[in-house]
Amino acid sequence: MRIAIPKEISSGENRVALVPTLVSNLTQLGCQILLEKGAGLNAHFRDEDYVGVELHDSAQSLYQNADVILKVESPTQDEIKLFKKDAIVIGMLSPGRYPDRVQAMSEQHITSFALENLPRISRAQVMDALSSQATITGYKAALLAANFLPRFFPMLTTAAGTIRPATVLVIGAGVAGLQAIATAHRLGAIVRAYDIRPAAREQVESLGAKMINIDIHAEGTGGYARELTEEEKQKQTQALANAVKDADAVITTALIPGKSAPKIITTAMVESMKPGSVIIDIAAIAGGNCELTQAHQTVTHQGVIINGPVNLPSMLAKDASIMYAKNVVSFLSLFIKEGKINIDWEDPILAQSVLTHDGKMLQKAS
Ligand code: NAI
Repeated sequence: MRIAIPKEISSGENRVALVPTLVSNLTQLGCQILLEKGAGLNAHFRDEDYVGVELHDSAQSLYQNADVILKVESPTQDEIKLFKKDAIVIGMLSPGRYPDRVQAMSEQHITSFALENLPRISRAQVMDALSSQATITGYKAALLAANFLPRFFPMLTTAAGTIRPATVLVIGAGVAGLQAIATAHRLGAIVRAYDIRPAAREQVESLGAKMINIDIHAEGTGGYARELTEEEKQKQTQALANAVKDADAVITTALIPGKSAPKIITTAMVESMKPGSVIIDIAAIAGGNCELTQAHQTVTHQGVIINGPVNLPSMLAKDASIMYAKNVVSFLSLFIKEGKINIDWEDPILAQSVLTHDGKMLQKAS
């Protein structure tokens, strides 16, 4: 069984799907590791750190020899053309964004698994790449907010006077939001938070933040949020207006699976904020939670800085790769034993994450 680790080619992607410390976990499963030269360099892992692997000069020679391919991002059409028929591909494949790539993998009889489709059950937690990468996103979002803000986060008492602490508002208290809350709190800010799932309150409060009360309970299926009705949206806008106006920094993380990000921060709300205030909108890739967000960009509107980052885990590429690789290796150990592949299609982890197999598309893009 030959497992390939390519260099990621998407622009701005620094992560790698396997880190040196986990090579032995795969060799113990009876696998041989093929590494494209320089694959780990942007995440600060040198080729020589990967002990016992076979190095390949090009993606072409790597893919020609690979039974299993470990990716971070979805493979491009050009990469897919290089894969062997019947190869297995594992990664964050974003089927909703790239249905054409899913189609191409199906036509080439590739078996592809999208880690973002794993069921959120306890047995899958160790493989949950959405959660591991969202943890990094939330942490980095709080640091970006602190970086853009022309004020301190903590209260300071100095000979030059007392500085009052910044107020940070986190909207959406899922995995990323909770990590943003914890990080902003550790940096000394006063943190307020809001989520439409009632279950989030206890977690928010346990991190030292204050939950904003709005009488909306929008828990949908599987513990995820559901889309709000028009009436609920209006109620939310009114109730959040003061909290947004008072915040020095707003970090927005609200997402609804399979939908565009809900628009929560209106232009009027932005215009009510103090000049120098900051919005970090980590939902930018899904359209943004703020009406003025532009993905990949930082815009300033009436003195308010609005940043729309799209790949924060890549900014922390070393730890992001370590966590991601741990997820991938755990996933692989579900179906590779003694160098042989044995996929149990009754296992919900495999059945829900598979996109293509045996020339068929098995999930509708979402
Ligand atoms: P997500 O990334 O899908 O969404 C982020 C947050 O935005 C969620 O907390 C959601 O409730 C909130 N949100 C959506 N619309 C909103 C609105 N209009 N206003 C305010 N907030 C809004 O969420 P994530 O982090 O993937 O977590 C989703 C669920 O999955 C949670 O219940 C979480 O506890 C659960 N989960 C379970 C895991 C497990 O293995 N059992 C692992 C990770 C998450």
